[in-house]
Amino acid sequence: MIELKKVSKAYAGQQGLTQALNDVSLSVAPGQIYGVMGRSGAGKSTLIRTVNLLERPDSGQVFVGGQSLLSLSEAGLLKARREIGMIFQQFNLLQSRTVFDNIALPLELEKLPRRLIKKRVEELLSLVDLSSKAQAYPDQLSGGQKQRVAIARSLANKPKVLLSDEATSSLDPETTDNILELLKRINRELGLTILLITHEMDVIRKICQRACILEAGAIIEEGQVVDIFSHPKTDIAKRFVLSNLHVAIPEPLQKLLQKNPEDQSVPVVRLTFLGKKVGEPLMVSLLTKFNVITNILQANLNWVQDASIGMSICELLGEREAVVASIQFIQNQGIDVEILGYVNRSATFME
Ligand SMILES: Nc1ncnc2c1ncn2[C@@H]1O[C@H](COP(=O)(O)OP(=O)(O)OP(=O)(O)O)[C@@H](O)[C@H]1O
Ligand SMILES: [Mg+2]
Repeated sequence: MIELKKVSKAYAGQQGLTQALNDVSLSVAPGQIYGVMGRSGAGKSTLIRTVNLLERPDSGQVFVGGQSLLSLSEAGLLKARREIGMIFQQFNLLQSRTVFDNIALPLELEKLPRRLIKKRVEELLSLVDLSSKAQAYPDQLSGGQKQRVAIARSLANKPKVLLSDEATSSLDPETTDNILELLKRINRELGLTILLITHEMDVIRKICQRACILEAGAIIEEGQVVDIFSHPKTDIAKRFVLSNLHVAIPEPLQKLLQKNPEDQSVPVVRLTFLGKKVGEPLMVSLLTKFNVITNILQANLNWVQDASIGMSICELLGEREAVVASIQFIQNQGIDVEILGYVNRSATFME
C-alpha cells in the first residue's frame, strides 16, 4: 500500500547539508499497522512527510496504492493526498472552529452538500466517541479528546492510509493507550493502513505488526515487531531497545557503589535479557543451587507476544565463591551480566 524506493532527502542549513534520509526503502502492506522508531533527529518526520510529499525527496520513488506520487500533476497530487490522512503530536486543530466544524473542514473543501457533511461528521463523531462534544471548542477538550477530533478529521475523506507523526507523544500513558486502542479499532473496522512514527518502543509493541528502526537517516533494522525487540541484529538497535526500558542505577545506590570488592561487599549487577523467559525461576535457581539471594533494586520487564525483554539491577548476596559461580550460571542461561560495582553489605537491606 505504501512503498518508498531508495528515498534520499537532504536539508540545506547554516552548517551545510543535513542528510535527513539516506537511501531509504520501505514497504507497508495493505491493512498493516507499521511502526518507524528512532531517536530524535533520526529522520522520522522527514520520512513520514515524504509519503504524502509534504517533503519532496531529492531522489527515489514514492508509491501509495500503486500510484507513483512523484509523477502526478499538481491536481493529481491533491486528489491522491485525499486518500492519505495524517495526524500530529500537536493535533493541529483550528481553535476558532467547533469540534463539528473542524471535522467538517475537509468535506467543505470538497464542496459536499451540507446535508451530507452533517451525516458524515455525525458518523465520525460517533466513531471516535465524541458525539456529546460536537459543539465544544478545542480549548475545552483534553489532549486525548483533541487527538480524537484530529483522527475523525483525518478520516473525513475516507482515506486508505493514515500517517501518524508522534500522535501520542504529548499524552499521558492512559490516554496514549486509549488512542492506540482507537487506532487499532479503525485499522480493523475500516481496513485502514497505518504508518506511525514514534520514539517510544511501547507504542510499537502495543499496536504494530511490523516495524523498523531509523538511525541517522537509514533503516538499521526491519522486521516483525517480536523479532526486532527480542533479537535485535545490530548494536545500535539493541541499545535503542534497552534504553527504552529506562532502568538506571538508583541514585542513593550510585553514591555507595565502589569499583573494587572488599571483605564485606557484594556485587551489584545489571542483568539484561532479550527474548528470554526469566524472572522468578532464575532467582529460585540461584537460591537453591548456590544459596545466593537476589535483591532486586530496579527492574523493568516487557512482553512482546511470548518473548520477554528486560533489564534488572540487583545485588547478589551470598558467599563469595557462590556468588562468582552464580554469575557464571546466569551467563550460561544466555543472560547478559554486567558488574556495576560493589556495595558494602551493611549499607543495604541485609542490615
Ligand atoms: N526544514 C528543515 N531544515 C533543515 N534541517 C531540517 C529540517 N527538518 C529537519 N531537519 C534536520 O533533518 C534531520 C531529521 O529531522 P526529523 O525532523 O526528520 O527527525 P525526527 O526523527 O522526526 O526527530 P524528532 O524525534 O525530534 O521529531 C535532523 O537533523 C533535523 O535537524
Ligand atoms: Mg519528528
